[in-house]
Amino acid sequence: TQAKIAVVGSNMVDLITYTSRMPGPGETLEAPSFELGCGGKGANQAVAAAKLGADVVMVTKVGDDIFGKNTMHNLESFGIDTTHVTQVQGTSSGVAPIFVEPSGENSILIIKGANATLSPADVDAAEDKLRQAALILMQMEVPLETVYHTIRRASEWGVRTILNPAPAAPDLDVTRLRGLDYLIPNETELAILSGRETGDEAGIVDAARALMAQGIGHVIVTLGGRGVRLVTADQVQAIPAVQVKAVDTTGAGDAFIGSFAHFLTQMGEPVAALHQAVRFAAHSVTGRGTQKSYATAAEFADFCRALETSV
Ligand code: RIB
Ligand code: NA
Repeated sequence: TQAKIAVVGSNMVDLITYTSRMPGPGETLEAPSFELGCGGKGANQAVAAAKLGADVVMVTKVGDDIFGKNTMHNLESFGIDTTHVTQVQGTSSGVAPIFVEPSGENSILIIKGANATLSPADVDAAEDKLRQAALILMQMEVPLETVYHTIRRASEWGVRTILNPAPAAPDLDVTRLRGLDYLIPNETELAILSGRETGDEAGIVDAARALMAQGIGHVIVTLGGRGVRLVTADQVQAIPAVQVKAVDTTGAGDAFIGSFAHFLTQMGEPVAALHQAVRFAAHSVTGRGTQKSYATAAEFADFCRALETSV
């Protein structure tokens, strides 16, 4: 049977405006187009893995509004187990107004809504499903206590864990991540969590090792156009980026993390899985939106074939 991937995390509805530039204070600007999409870092990562064929279960909370119902249907449409997706009365769903400029660069506001109520008790309620998982994925759009609790329970159960510390939270207590298997920050998040200037390659490795000294198994640093670094106690592996023309980079980080989880369960070792995840994320920036730009297994195979014939 397929290895199960569990996501304990957020969902949002993305309100994506494509604009020529950001308006200044007091300015009204007309933008050419808009798209409504399902997003949120947790749900994006869950959908990335599910589109590749993984068996995914999600623990998350939605509000009692149309967005909540829509999110529930959306997760179901990808075959994701929604037994532990619950609706909170009197709270909005998570929403993310997003602005994308012609370069493909984005600016995002997030309103956590129901995600802010995902509690350690919700994790315990999902114990039966979570302990059957091969991997549990987490991000930072839910309360930190819930993240710490999930890591602690997962280590008791012997289930591996991945934390994507995004968006960056200076109040994350690294000492409470003990037992975490994979921490996957970008350079900014790495600097904040380690309290160090990362600067050059050596600085990145030092910062990653300082975090590992707190009891974290591997640190994987994502460096955008400069690729990815996998840092372990005695090694550093550099995985190069794949050059593509960016249309919309929104959710590319989630494409990377969710697909990495899937490839890791398939391939059993991180380096090969990272090469695949870098390609999966590169494919996602060639299309608009977040989840809808993620490739299915068949589309991903085509993309990889095209990459190989173009070199
Ligand atoms: O990482 C991208 C995601 O961040 C978007 O889908 C948005 O919902 C925000 O959570
Ligand atoms: Na995209």
